[in-house]
Amino acid sequence: MAGAGLLRDVPQLVRLTEAVVKSTRRPVTVKTRLGWDDSTINILEVAERLQDVGIQAISIHARTRSQMYKGEANWSWIAKVKENPRMHIPVFGNGDVDSPQKALEYKNRFGVDGIMIGRASIGYPWIFREIKHFFSTGELLPPPDIHERVLAARQHLSDSLAWKGEKLGVLEMRRHYAPYFRDLPNIKPYRARLVTEMEPGVLFGILDEIEEVYSNEALLV
Ligand SMILES: Cc1cc2nc3c(=O)[nH]c(=O)nc-3n(C[C@H](O)[C@H](O)[C@H](O)COP(=O)(O)O)c2cc1C
Repeated sequence: MAGAGLLRDVPQLVRLTEAVVKSTRRPVTVKTRLGWDDSTINILEVAERLQDVGIQAISIHARTRSQMYKGEANWSWIAKVKENPRMHIPVFGNGDVDSPQKALEYKNRFGVDGIMIGRASIGYPWIFREIKHFFSTGELLPPPDIHERVLAARQHLSDSLAWKGEKLGVLEMRRHYAPYFRDLPNIKPYRARLVTEMEPGVLFGILDEIEEVYSNEALLV
């Protein structure tokens, strides 16, 4: 009954949320989906009842649990939550936003108070500043240069080692190199080394090499 499973037992969801709200003076927020499946979409009722027990904001992933990640997120349900005159807490929309343009379009079209971004930020944390910049200036920031990409990968690797330990830290980091270095020409051989090497010192060395080669056009073949 964790996560979206609770959407099948609204009284339990409400009781649980109320208990959390009562146990702390900090603001409690909820993130959930539209409902369990297409025939049981209950987000309108859920949002209202959770607001009534004291949550401070709600984030809604505009899919049902049965949908998993299939099809397009249906943000019109989020707009319906926003349009409910009884709702007064901030409503954040979530699902499929992967560019500044889409963030602005969805914000305007569905009237949300904020947007949550999941997958598009994996390996590309710069999406947040790109969206903020686009909202405030209407202009697109250039993508991060090689120094920033390497800096992020280096920091991520070092945090991963500190958090997960040497072996797991190295292994779990492997899936992140491709997104950090996407679109770089001829990056494949470097990536192949990054995802086979086990020695952290050597991995940091490969990252240094990538930074040097890609910041120096003369070294690029
Ligand atoms: C690796 C990964 C882990 C996730 N873990 C959670 C989680 O623990 N709790 C949750 O509510 N949603 C979780 N999600 C779902 C996201 O929060 C988000 O609702 C979903 O990815 C749709 O947004 P997006 O299109 O911006 O990715 C996860 C998604 C991914 C890709």
